[in-house]
Amino acid sequence: MLKRIQSSKSKKITIFFEEKQIAAYEGESVAAALLCSGVKHIRTAPVSGTSRAPYCWMGVCFECLLEIDGQPNLQSCLIPVQEGMKIRRHALNDGDSA
Ligand code: FES
Repeated sequence: MLKRIQSSKSKKITIFFEEKQIAAYEGESVAAALLCSGVKHIRTAPVSGTSRAPYCWMGVCFECLLEIDGQPNLQSCLIPVQEGMKIRRHALNDGDSA
């Protein structure tokens, strides 16, 4: 599990992942907040069915795609957390026509 670098300036907020309440801090990305909270599985690869997690942390690999506040396929490594965000994984067939 990742560990946060404590900052006294960051305000603690609440986000929701798969309906579960998670503590996060302003300024961190959604992906960082989830991994720091012990979430290991961010998405499921549609072909192999394997569990995936953020890899590049800079918007290149697309391993961190999540649905955030109803918007699908967002790169969670690039999106800062906001109070009350509702985040969920995609179902395997979300958006796939194959
Ligand atoms: S971790 Fe690579 S795009 Fe987000």
